[in-house]
Amino acid sequence: MKVKKAVIPAAGLGTRMLPATKTVPKEMLPIVDKPAIEYIVEEAVASGIEDILIITNRGKSALDDYFDYAPEIEGALLRSGKRAEFELVRRSAQMANVFFIRQKETKGLGHAVLQARHFVGDEPFAVLLGDDIMMGEVPVTRQLIDAAERYGAAALGVQRCTSEEISKYSSVEITELEERIYRVTDMNEKPSPKEAFSEFAILGRYVLTPGVFDILENTPPGYGGEIQLTDGIRELCQVSPIVAVDFDARRYDTGNLPGFLEAMVDFALESPQVGAWMRDFLIEKVRGF
Ligand code: G1P
Repeated sequence: MKVKKAVIPAAGLGTRMLPATKTVPKEMLPIVDKPAIEYIVEEAVASGIEDILIITNRGKSALDDYFDYAPEIEGALLRSGKRAEFELVRRSAQMANVFFIRQKETKGLGHAVLQARHFVGDEPFAVLLGDDIMMGEVPVTRQLIDAAERYGAAALGVQRCTSEEISKYSSVEITELEERIYRVTDMNEKPSPKEAFSEFAILGRYVLTPGVFDILENTPPGYGGEIQLTDGIRELCQVSPIVAVDFDARRYDTGNLPGFLEAMVDFALESPQVGAWMRDFLIEKVRGF
């Protein structure tokens, strides 16, 4: 199983990050010096993905522009001899083949992924949710692709969470296959702690087989009146194998303010430009408390 295509749903309204997201797509909010979406595309590319479809909606054309050349800025940088800055600006336009499609109605994550049907065709593909930024040694999508290839199965990225947290996510029913890898037999979206199958939640990364599209075409609205990806994958797991990978990485939910700020601080600490300064700044702040 070779996975060369990825789908990034980025059609959310960003209501948890208002008022900033009134005019700026949440995927374009900078984390240190790059927009959030760039971290997601970087993970896909580092995982061996060549073609990426970003699913947007109205008001998100800043994303298309970001993955294009910017002749005015680039020309000005070259003329003033700022080669390094030029390379930085060019990078996003050359990272991968990035395609766009709009989800014309807000009908849920399952409906958003369904918009990728023609792009994906008859191949397995990765899904990376735009809000979930991961930091780990091996890119999380790569960890999933490795498991998917080994088991000839679709794969879901999961991590253990508390029984209170699980109702923000989806839970999976699993049996262990090997350390950190499980067979998936059922799942549900936004379960109450009682309804949860386990403490493992699906967290923003998937490798899916194209059979999911026929299912999603016919998936009725579920939780929140929306067509849920989880409901589609639930049906997929009745007919073809799915594994869950307890991935090794730190996850940041950048779709809400605390997660966004955690990513900002952690990524700043890792940055060659501002890491040392940020560390000293934080130490000074903490001393002041
Ligand atoms: C989505 C998915 C959910 C998943 C979560 C975290 O929910 O529907 O299954 O657990 O992302 O990746 P949302 O955060 O859009 O409510």
